[in-house]
Amino acid sequence: MEKRRVAVLISGRGSNLMALMQAARRPSYPAEIALVLSNRAQAGGLLAAQQNAVPTAVVDHGRYGADRHQFEAAMQHVLEKARIELVCLAGFMRLLTPSFVAKWNGRMLNIHPALLPAFKGLDTHARALAAGVKVHGATVHFVAEEMDSGAIVAQAALAVHEDESAESLAARVLNLEHRIYPLALALVACGRAKLVGGRCVMAPAERDESVLIAPATELEK
Ligand code: GRF
Repeated sequence: MEKRRVAVLISGRGSNLMALMQAARRPSYPAEIALVLSNRAQAGGLLAAQQNAVPTAVVDHGRYGADRHQFEAAMQHVLEKARIELVCLAGFMRLLTPSFVAKWNGRMLNIHPALLPAFKGLDTHARALAAGVKVHGATVHFVAEEMDSGAIVAQAALAVHEDESAESLAARVLNLEHRIYPLALALVACGRAKLVGGRCVMAPAERDESVLIAPATELEK
């Protein structure tokens, strides 16, 4: 099986990167992590990549000042040199220009710590608690021009606890992220999930009847 060559773009600790690298170690996994690219030389995820013998590169956005096109041209050069086919943003904290997004249309994924389209942007867990939602979670989506708004590939949800802090919610959602990012990448890498006309189209699978009702009480049964 020919594995798709994937670059993971990070800015920080890289726990999603680690989940992807771990999944990609399975012989049957349809993608290999061929490059980890960071815009920050101090990103913790770079060390994790090196420990896994995954090639790394740093393209420091600071060197390009306000010139986002030059910054992205430098990233594109690194991606092309590594013959990258798919890009996964995993805690990559730079906004991308429409032309870079267009170049990778249908071939670039992002993970967001909320059930999109709710809670786009930052501080999702505190905002979810403030809104009083009973169900919260994580989303993997194709990257579109507008931030956190591309076609959804996979989502995972959990019940929000009554007495929960933003920190505990973040930790529980992060566990879900680590489960759905490898799943979503596998679906895209093997061609079962595709971006078609702005939507994510899935190859026929078994009908999913799973539901999550929150709060779970005996009154519902
Ligand atoms: C994750 O919560 C991800 O959803 C968001 O940024 C965070 C990155 O964490 N986009 P990590 O670097 O993967 O640990």
